[in-house]
Amino acid sequence: MTGNIAYHKKIQSQYFLLRAHSPDIAATAKPGQFVMIKVSSENTTDPLLRRPLSIMSAEPESGIIEMIYKIAGRGTALLSNKKTGQNLDIIGPLGNGFPELPQSHSALVVGGGVGIPPLIFLTQRLCQRDNVAVTAFIGAKTGQDIVCPERFLINGAENVLCATENGDTGVKGFVTEALNDFLNKHSVDTPVIYACGPEQMLKAVARIGKSRSIPTFVSLEEHMGCGVGACLGCVVDTVNGYKTVCSDGPVFNTADLKSWI
Ligand code: FES
Repeated sequence: MTGNIAYHKKIQSQYFLLRAHSPDIAATAKPGQFVMIKVSSENTTDPLLRRPLSIMSAEPESGIIEMIYKIAGRGTALLSNKKTGQNLDIIGPLGNGFPELPQSHSALVVGGGVGIPPLIFLTQRLCQRDNVAVTAFIGAKTGQDIVCPERFLINGAENVLCATENGDTGVKGFVTEALNDFLNKHSVDTPVIYACGPEQMLKAVARIGKSRSIPTFVSLEEHMGCGVGACLGCVVDTVNGYKTVCSDGPVFNTADLKSWI
């Protein structure tokens, strides 16, 4: 599948916004799904592996999808060299997105660092289509790693609470502390928690969900390798047996993740 780069710019620190014209993906993508992008130059295969990027928005009308990524190695550094107008070799949408829970009236979305963008997409769907009240909690080490907080509000979230470990943006501390604090002070109508970010953060979110009996879904996208079910390098142990993060996930109910419960 090919796309075309409609816009590609550094937005802050090591983070880039990539906007691609890819109508087939834009038509069907769901929040929580991802794409695999060939980062090597045309006619070369080095590096061989594609890079997984989660989808931040998908507009069927314009055929545009958006992704944000952070330069984290050679692959993403190569990707950052691609220019607006260039062709993009892109596969997707892949994986299963966040589940729809019709009985839920409130969503608490919790994102850390590069785990923030897919929750922006989720917020849009929940608020604009499903009429769910969304409160967003986003966190990182510093404000440099807080990407696009305004997008949550634009997409309909009632509130967005930022937390940074050094305290330069939002409250000082972990985003999970902000979530706990919020739940201590507010009664939330039929809540569900959706989270994406570093595993340590996700495990802390899972503990909060479990202790408060709130259904909790996490996206394990950090575990991705080939992205298409071929390498079995992304297997997780669940109550239903071993599952691949890329094709069975990346979103899992934390109650199903064996080492997490
Ligand atoms: Fe290769 Fe999932 S990343 S099987």
